[in-house]
Amino acid sequence: MTDMVVGVVGLGRIGRALVKVLASRGTEVHVYNRTAARSHEMAEMTGASVAASPAELARVCDVVCVCLAGWEATRTTYLEAGGLLDDTGSERLFIDLGTLEPAQARDLRDHVAAGGHRFLFAPVSGRPLDVEEGRGFVMAAGDPTGIPLASEILSALGTFRHVGDDPAHAAVMKLTVNLLAFATMCATAEAIGLATGAGIDRKRAIDLLVESPATSALLSRRREAFLDPESSEVQGPIEMAIKVYDMITGFADEVGSQVPQAKATVALFTQAVAAGYGPRDITGFGDFLRDPRSATDRT
Ligand SMILES: NC(=O)c1ccc[n+]([C@@H]2O[C@H](COP(=O)([O-])OP(=O)(O)OC[C@H]3O[C@@H](n4cnc5c(N)ncnc54)[C@H](OP(=O)(O)O)[C@@H]3O)[C@@H](O)[C@H]2O)c1
Repeated sequence: MTDMVVGVVGLGRIGRALVKVLASRGTEVHVYNRTAARSHEMAEMTGASVAASPAELARVCDVVCVCLAGWEATRTTYLEAGGLLDDTGSERLFIDLGTLEPAQARDLRDHVAAGGHRFLFAPVSGRPLDVEEGRGFVMAAGDPTGIPLASEILSALGTFRHVGDDPAHAAVMKLTVNLLAFATMCATAEAIGLATGAGIDRKRAIDLLVESPATSALLSRRREAFLDPESSEVQGPIEMAIKVYDMITGFADEVGSQVPQAKATVALFTQAVAAGYGPRDITGFGDFLRDPRSATDRT
């Protein structure tokens, strides 16, 4: 890899995966995380250097990758005193990998550009484990001059694709991928429930669906989770999916697109959360549909 110093801000599941792959390639990595213990843990594991603040990290890195959860965390980490844009000196490339609304991606681009830096919005799709093993999917948009460097760094996480010059377009494509993925997961859970409700063995039903013309990459990859949702690792909790659905339906209303299936699923997910299924993985949505409490509000 080109001789460059890369910073990673936010050591949640995606940030940690990025640090591990970069360090394993011999890249010099600096890390910052709000909870310092996580930074020290990653430093011990990978040899990364720990920065005391986002500003300190930005000062010593050529490229800064930001992997935070939510707009509030992202906005303050860039803009507050001691934040990423606080006195960085010479030009940097900022790459934001979070899941943000299209308008938020443009807002970040404007702040970063006002500081004299380049910006790319590059949301990631895929489970953290897939991302760590290079099977994620990254769609980047923004300053085209940053694309070769971003591709070099982020192709470590999986397939890297350039969407265009407007960072909002990468945000829209990420929401689009989420919409299709959630719909596929919910329909799969319903289909399995239909078969098992008729007395067909769960494993047999899933094996047949995998072989059928209706199969999907998601069903194949998450086969074990659909088979036994309760004992599988939670990859995409229902409560997290509602937040993303809020972005999807809000944006659809803004641009006048009809998403009736997404809105119906939000209503069902909201009932599932009220019944205590919020922390459960979406593959367990079928369990909620079989729960007698799920039937009370539906006809
Ligand atoms: N996990 C996935 O499956 C997945 C897949 C694709 C994309 N993504 C996206 O990638 C981004 C990161 O996701 P993740 O799963 O890595 O998140 P995560 O594991 O929940 O970690 C969240 C990160 O954000 C930091 N954070 C939260 N609130 C903060 C605040 N107010 N100020 C400063 N830092 C704050 C946390 O710091 P602390 O350690 O101090 O709490 C942590 O570093 C999100 O936008 C997510 O939508 C996630």
